[in-house]
Amino acid sequence: MSIGEGPIGDSFSAVSRRITVIGLGHVGLTTAACFAHLGHEVWGVDSSSSHVDRVSGGHVDFFEEGLPKLVAEGLANGRLHVSTQHGRAAPEFVFVCTPTPSIDGRLDATITADAISHLRPFIDEATIIVVKSTVPVGFTVALGPRAVSNPEYLRAGTGPYDFLHPERIVIGATDADAGDAVAGLYDGLGPVVRTDPSSSELAKLAANSFLAIKVSFINELTQVAEAHEADTFEVARILGMDRRIGPAFLTPGPGWGGPCLPKDSGELAAIGMSLVGAAREVNHAQPQRVVAKVAEACGGSVAGRKIAVWGIAFKPGSEDLLESPAMRVVRVLRAAGAQVCAYDRLATHPDLDMAASPLAACHGADVLLVFDDQPVETEHIPVRAVVDAVNSRPVDEWRRAGLRVFGLGRR
Ligand SMILES: NC(=O)c1ccc[n+]([C@@H]2O[C@H](COP(=O)([O-])OP(=O)(O)OC[C@H]3O[C@@H](n4cnc5c(N)ncnc54)[C@H](O)[C@@H]3O)[C@@H](O)[C@H]2O)c1
Repeated sequence: MSIGEGPIGDSFSAVSRRITVIGLGHVGLTTAACFAHLGHEVWGVDSSSSHVDRVSGGHVDFFEEGLPKLVAEGLANGRLHVSTQHGRAAPEFVFVCTPTPSIDGRLDATITADAISHLRPFIDEATIIVVKSTVPVGFTVALGPRAVSNPEYLRAGTGPYDFLHPERIVIGATDADAGDAVAGLYDGLGPVVRTDPSSSELAKLAANSFLAIKVSFINELTQVAEAHEADTFEVARILGMDRRIGPAFLTPGPGWGGPCLPKDSGELAAIGMSLVGAAREVNHAQPQRVVAKVAEACGGSVAGRKIAVWGIAFKPGSEDLLESPAMRVVRVLRAAGAQVCAYDRLATHPDLDMAASPLAACHGADVLLVFDDQPVETEHIPVRAVVDAVNSRPVDEWRRAGLRVFGLGRR
């Protein structure tokens, strides 16, 4: 996948706009670099001077495929500036991409509200404030009519591609002219959905929560299938053929994590959706089910056993360990006396024994635990048993290579 793939990847906007982006993390730096790529004049502001120094030198500390190239392009052609300070000329748009951490299960917008209140001296009455951060419902309306909700739907790790090839661009505005102006920035990129700010904010929480429910549904169904000697994959295949349900996100696994699903579902559960709360409980218990499979593969107990782990990030293709189901499993294994050696192509952890290659992680291991499959021939993997927590390979492939295989939901 390349960021320039598709008909619009290299197109440039007809009218160059002055855009400020506040918060240059996964979302903000992607937004800044992509708008610069589309021909706009972008001023990026971040409170961390060391981060700004590294970005000005062309270094991106986190993984978003294609982002370093876009940042380098913007810095070189002068359309992208990054600083700890705001620019002198009032921008036409300010995109707010600051953090909204989860505190006691609720979205906390304090940092974002403070960043917006500090903006006032640097903008004028014509400036449109665009809220990209995931915020509590009602946040944008409270900022007044010149504020527009435009939640970010990018998937962690593929930000630039998703920004330039969006499934939908949601613009929640009370002032129609402000909404039109924001929509104009995305001209030609993808379908624009116009709505009111609170519906836009709620839709963002609902999208991630719905995915969370779907994954928890199949994970809980897996327990029922295992108890009744049914095969979850057969059940999922039949479910997925129903056009009202669809086949995506119906594979059993170790549960969901990362920077968005836990946080967004926590907020929706807290403001009234008990169904989302139930999905969170199922997810909370899921790592224990993986641990039980590892214990079974070890003959009853993991104490004193060496477990090789492939993949520690919250999902393959990310370096983010936040709320990673794999790390939750690793912590339980270690607490139960197992020795863990891990390999991840992007992520690392200071307190874990990290191997330099997938095979090195398996050296001397009793069991291989897979969260992210690696391009290694099955017959070369030097273990006797595998717990394939993401069902990465057909069971027969593991078995043909002489491995005992323990999966989730397979008979
Ligand atoms: N990461 C994702 O995949 C994703 C996807 C959709 C939505 N979101 C939402 O977007 C928002 C930003 O998330 P992120 O992942 O980009 O965060 P991040 O932690 O990667 O980056 C946040 C950046 O903001 C900077 N910052 C903090 N306070 C600041 C301030 N007062 N002024 C200027 N800069 C400040 C930090 O130094 C950091 O560089 C959050 O609300 C998040 O929920 C994230």
